[in-house]
Amino acid sequence: MAAPLLPPVETGPAIAWAAARLRRAALSYGHGTDNPQDEAAALVFHAAGWAHADAPAAYQWLLSDAVRERIAALLARRIKERIPSAYLTGVTWFAGHEMKVDPRVLVPRSPIAELIETEFRPFIDPSRVHRILDIGTGSGCIAIACAHAFPQAVVDAVDISPAALEVAAANVAAHGLETRVSLQRSDVFSGVIGRQYDMIVSNPPYVPIADVEALPPEYAHEPALGLASGADGLNAVRAILADWRQYLTPGGILVVEVGDSAAAVEHTWPQLPFIWLEFERGGGGVFLLTME
Ligand SMILES: C[S@@+](CC[C@H](N)C(=O)[O-])C[C@H]1O[C@@H](n2cnc3c(N)ncnc32)[C@H](O)[C@@H]1O
Repeated sequence: MAAPLLPPVETGPAIAWAAARLRRAALSYGHGTDNPQDEAAALVFHAAGWAHADAPAAYQWLLSDAVRERIAALLARRIKERIPSAYLTGVTWFAGHEMKVDPRVLVPRSPIAELIETEFRPFIDPSRVHRILDIGTGSGCIAIACAHAFPQAVVDAVDISPAALEVAAANVAAHGLETRVSLQRSDVFSGVIGRQYDMIVSNPPYVPIADVEALPPEYAHEPALGLASGADGLNAVRAILADWRQYLTPGGILVVEVGDSAAAVEHTWPQLPFIWLEFERGGGGVFLLTME
C-alpha cells in the first residue's frame, strides 16, 4: 500500500495544503465553520497540539513527522467518512467560548450566539434578566454563553437526552458554572413546571423527519434527536408555543430558532406576532415573542 501523502513541515503551508484537499473533496460545511480554510486550520492545530491563542505565531512552527501523519489521518476521516471537524477535534467555539463536543450532541452553530453576544439588546434590558431557561441545551452552549453574558443570572438548561446532558455537564464544569447553570432532563417544560423565567431561549430540533435523510452526510453523525421533530418538523416548537406564556415573567421574552421551518411556523400560528431576527454573521429563522 502506498504511504499517505503528508503535508508540508511548516504549519502555515500545511494548513493551505489541507484546505486545498478539503476544497477538492466538495464537502458540506456548516458545523461550526463555513469554509475549508478554517476547518483545515482547526484540524492542523488539533493534530499539532497548538492552542487557538498560538495563532498567528504558530503558522511558522514546524510539524514533526508524527504530527504530519496525524493530519493526513484526520483529513482522510473528514473526507471519506464525512465526519464534521468538530467531532474529530472534540471542540468548537460558540459566542467566543470553547465547548467540548462529540456525537452525543449537535455541533453548536446557532445564530443565537450573536444575540447572546449583544445581550439580546434592544429586546430586553440585560439588568432585569435573573432567570433564564434553555430548552434543548445539547452541549450546553446557549446556557453557558448566557451565563457568561448575564453574570447575575441563573440558568436552567434542559434536554430530553441523558447523553447530551452528560456532555453539557462536562462543559458546565469546564466553565466553572456549576452554581449558576442547572442541568435537568426534561421533555420541553415537563421538568420545570411552576417556574418562571425572564428569558426562554431554545434551539430545538425543527427538521421534518422525511427531510433528515436528504441532508449532507455530515448530519448523519449528529444525534437524530437534535435534528428531527415529527412529520412537519414542528413537534418541539408546538410544545413550546402551547405553554410558553405561563413560564415567562411579565416583560419576559421567548427566542426560538426554527431555521428553514420559519414559513411553516408563520403558516401554523398566523395569530402570533413573531418578530423575525436578523444576523450580521448570516443565518436566520429565529423568532422572538414578548409577553406583551
Ligand atoms: C438542535 S439541538 C440544539 C442543541 C444546542 N442548544 C445548540 O444550539 O447547539 C436540539 C436539542 O434539543 C433536544 N431535544 C429534542 N427534543 C426535545 C424535547 N422534547 N425536550 C427537550 N429537549 C429536546 C435534543 O436532544 C438536542 O440536544
